[in-house]
Amino acid sequence: MAGSIDKVVLITGASSGIGEATARELASAGARLFIGARRGARLKALAEELGETVAWRELDVTDAADVEAFVTAADARFGRVDVLVNNAGVMPLSPLAALKRDEWKRMIDVNIHGVLNGIAAVLPRFVAQQRGHVVNVASVAAHMVMPTAAVYCGTKHAVRAITEGLRQEHDEIRATLISPGVVATDLGHDITDPDVAAALTGWRKKSLTPDAIARAVRYALEQPEGVDINEVIVRPVAADM
Ligand SMILES: NC(=O)c1ccc[n+]([C@@H]2O[C@H](COP(=O)([O-])OP(=O)(O)OC[C@H]3O[C@@H](n4cnc5c(N)ncnc54)[C@H](OP(=O)(O)O)[C@@H]3O)[C@@H](O)[C@H]2O)c1
Repeated sequence: MAGSIDKVVLITGASSGIGEATARELASAGARLFIGARRGARLKALAEELGETVAWRELDVTDAADVEAFVTAADARFGRVDVLVNNAGVMPLSPLAALKRDEWKRMIDVNIHGVLNGIAAVLPRFVAQQRGHVVNVASVAAHMVMPTAAVYCGTKHAVRAITEGLRQEHDEIRATLISPGVVATDLGHDITDPDVAAALTGWRKKSLTPDAIARAVRYALEQPEGVDINEVIVRPVAADM
């Protein structure tokens, strides 16, 4: 079904994992893409591979001005902005008693403020153009809580609440929450607790590949204007979590 998405789509965290797979999937569906993350070299290589309908810019989602500039640059490149996929996220898990305040703050900054910065950067233009679509990548951690993941789950619960609030406040905007189960990506590479890192390796024994999540994003984008896919949970078959 090539060419089914005639939209300009912005994707944060597109330098690896789910964001990269989403860029590949949406590019194959005909979308024009503006992709961002901190690792510019990876974005450049991906954009060159996917062709001239994909442009990139280095982006730190924790910096509100940088997110504004990212959206402005996308508009300058393609002349419009239709969809924002807030995908960037980090997951340095640890028990609360380890008191890893810096890691808590990083999760809150990237996973919550990053999403809010994205919403703030597109909301005025979506309201003005009376249409737009925000896709937030949350997690099954938006639906459950488990030891070592208290703060991460807190951030993803917040993303779920914010997405639902956006939906309720704006009739003209589509709001979608995509909640993956375990996916084999680099997420958690920055876990500093060795026991938790070992547990993550165990969880990943039953995992999806990122293209499974990319297809869920595509499904939400391909719906007619009057259809709002509010939430999709995608787990491996027989998932433990
Ligand atoms: N993998 C899973 O099992 C799983 C399950 C549920 C939900 N998720 C969610 O899926 C999303 C994508 O994660 P992933 O699994 O694909 O992991 P990943 O491969 O580590 O990708 C995370 C992406 O976020 C970007 N990022 C991190 N901090 C950033 C910042 N300050 N500014 C801009 N970009 C930043 C990274 O790019 P740079 O480092 O280049 O900036 C990278 O592209 C996350 O929101 C994650 O919570 C993943």
